[in-house]
Amino acid sequence: MKAVAVLPGKAHSVHLRDIPAPGLGDQPQPHVTAVPEGRSVLVKVLQIGVDATDREINEALYGNAPPGGDYLVIGHESFGQVLEVGEKVTTLRPGDYVSCTVRRPGHSLFDLIGRNDITSEETYYERGINLCHGYLTETFVDDAEYMVKVPVNLKHLGVLSEPASVCAKAIEQAFLAQQRLQVWNPRRAFVLGAGQIGLLATMMLKLRGMEVYTLATKPGPHHKSDIVEAYGATYVSTRQTSMHDLAAQVGKPDLIFEATGNAEVCFRAMEILGHNGALVWTSITGGKHDVTIDGAKINLEWVLGNKLLVSSVNGNRHHFELGLQALSHGELTYPGVTERILTHPVAGLDNYAEMMRLLEDKDALKVYVNVA
Ligand code: BGC
Ligand code: ZN
Repeated sequence: MKAVAVLPGKAHSVHLRDIPAPGLGDQPQPHVTAVPEGRSVLVKVLQIGVDATDREINEALYGNAPPGGDYLVIGHESFGQVLEVGEKVTTLRPGDYVSCTVRRPGHSLFDLIGRNDITSEETYYERGINLCHGYLTETFVDDAEYMVKVPVNLKHLGVLSEPASVCAKAIEQAFLAQQRLQVWNPRRAFVLGAGQIGLLATMMLKLRGMEVYTLATKPGPHHKSDIVEAYGATYVSTRQTSMHDLAAQVGKPDLIFEATGNAEVCFRAMEILGHNGALVWTSITGGKHDVTIDGAKINLEWVLGNKLLVSSVNGNRHHFELGLQALSHGELTYPGVTERILTHPVAGLDNYAEMMRLLEDKDALKVYVNVA
């Protein structure tokens, strides 16, 4: 069957290759954790989303091939339909729509209790990213443990399950961490960045009843600012109003959700957070970027203001479920808005070069491949 792969370490090596099609009895190849007998699910891939991580993998800034091989099948944002299930699978049946999680367990205590998203080992296993093949292919097999059912009436948003899990986890992490305060009822949130993560975070924070400002560089109106406004949030162009000016005008935020991919913004955000607030970092900034900040001022304000920085990556099945609940709630509250994130479909695996080209295009909000 066809698969889109890269040669990790070699820039711009994305290519189409032929790999063996798995059967229900096969293990994911090569596998880091064996699927227990009878627990396999065979999935037909319908759509795969791609993001900046895929771009960085193709630029050889990130990602590794599975042990013993030189190529990595990419694609970690999955959406598919169940073809066959093993005899011990009770949660899924053929025809169900699913998304499959990205990380697989290592050996730390966190991995053993189902929290591979917070593994304490430096080596992490992620399908389509690090040491495990991904989903940008025709069919795949995996453990039912990692498959999350997508409600049939949400299948038009199924390809957003993984990005939604990342947002839902990051927000949940902030709320869990803020239990340190005994009472935390955030009223005002700034979302930094209006890519898919920033937009989904905007929706999720609006659903929690907050006053949300979503900041990005380009002055509106445009497609992204329209989506922000359709969620009932306020779009702010930092070219017109800096985040410092915005904080001075509307008040400092209780919560900042950072999703710009820009290291400087990550640190500048520390200058505007309100007392007892939480700043959540979700960007994964490849390469090197020195930033100059007034460390004394930030330290003073952070200590006197009891401020908190939370970092969040990945999502396990619990976070996929939270993400899907939020997508469902969002769809009922803001009908038809979230699908406007799905701007750039690519027809079939054969068009992988077009997919990579669109990933470079700053105006392409969401690139995804219609595989079947
Ligand atoms: C993925 C996450 C993953 C992270 C780090 C992101 O693009 O969406 O699932 O944990 O990259 O590799
Ligand atoms: Zn991703």
